[in-house]
Amino acid sequence: PGAKLIRHYLQFKDLRAEEYAHLFERVAIIKRRFKNYERYQPLADRTLAMIFEKASTRTRVSFEAGMYQMGGSVVHLTTGDSQLGRAEPIEDSARVISRMVDIVMIRTFEQTKIERFAAHSRVPVINGLTNEFHPCQILADLFTFIEAHGMNRRGIVDVDCLKGRVVAWVGDGNNMANTWLQAAEILGFTVHVSTPSGYEVNAEVAGITNSDCYKVFNNPVDACRGADLVTTDVWTSMGYEAENDARRKAFADWCVDAEMMNVAKPDALFMHCLPAHRGEEVTAEVIDGPQSVVWDEAENRMHVQKALMEYLLLGRIG
Ligand code: CP
Ligand code: NVA
Repeated sequence: PGAKLIRHYLQFKDLRAEEYAHLFERVAIIKRRFKNYERYQPLADRTLAMIFEKASTRTRVSFEAGMYQMGGSVVHLTTGDSQLGRAEPIEDSARVISRMVDIVMIRTFEQTKIERFAAHSRVPVINGLTNEFHPCQILADLFTFIEAHGMNRRGIVDVDCLKGRVVAWVGDGNNMANTWLQAAEILGFTVHVSTPSGYEVNAEVAGITNSDCYKVFNNPVDACRGADLVTTDVWTSMGYEAENDARRKAFADWCVDAEMMNVAKPDALFMHCLPAHRGEEVTAEVIDGPQSVVWDEAENRMHVQKALMEYLLLGRIG
């Protein structure tokens, strides 16, 4: 009700650099409170609806646990157990659901679907993964990077630690890759992208305007040279299962291994949004090795999303 501007988080570029700086400071505070068992419940009496049209472990647990920790409650919907699976128009679903809850998270197929939902929603909508983007994951990954390189002993966050860095993306030009490109454009780093041919990133789909924020490499080892962070993802994303056999052949050389980590910076991190397939996109040696921060990434999903929900519902704090 009223003329309050609704802010959605449908893609990474929906927030500006200075908003990210604020958000990451809030994440550090919110995470510290969680670790210290300090109650922090600014979303008491608020309800989050989560709509899943694809499977999830991390996204569901992190949003659900995070919302309860902040004093709110959660409604969990899937295509199979709601009218969404029986062809109720997405616009009607948005009108109805957004009259009863305070915020909505959706995991679905085409980005246009979440955009249509948001256009008819009275409350903020968060992208929990679409075919094109996965902004909550990149938020967690960036915070994980900041924890390693941009946080002093008093827990003060320095977002500028991302500036000028090199992130190597090895594998599919998918939703994660697109979102890394948007983050690079906004926060001032470069992505070295190496994909098999036919699976390249597309600047138009990624929605970036400055092509300087990424460089393309045919050889994945070259993409990793001098990188501050090496990251990859599954060869076959959800919704593309029919291409599985072709992808397994095409991606065989795009497995992050010790050789790739060895040409990166000595203190380079390895990230993967998970779930992972050891022996396909990454070797067990790398994902289970000392440079891997994949469990921190997964945990940080919850902390960043708590800060995101706080920001979308309550605005700037402090
Ligand atoms: N990384 C991620 O989004 O995991 P889930 O598919 O388990 O939610
Ligand atoms: N690119 C993967 C990420 C899973 C979290 C997918 O879309 O299935």
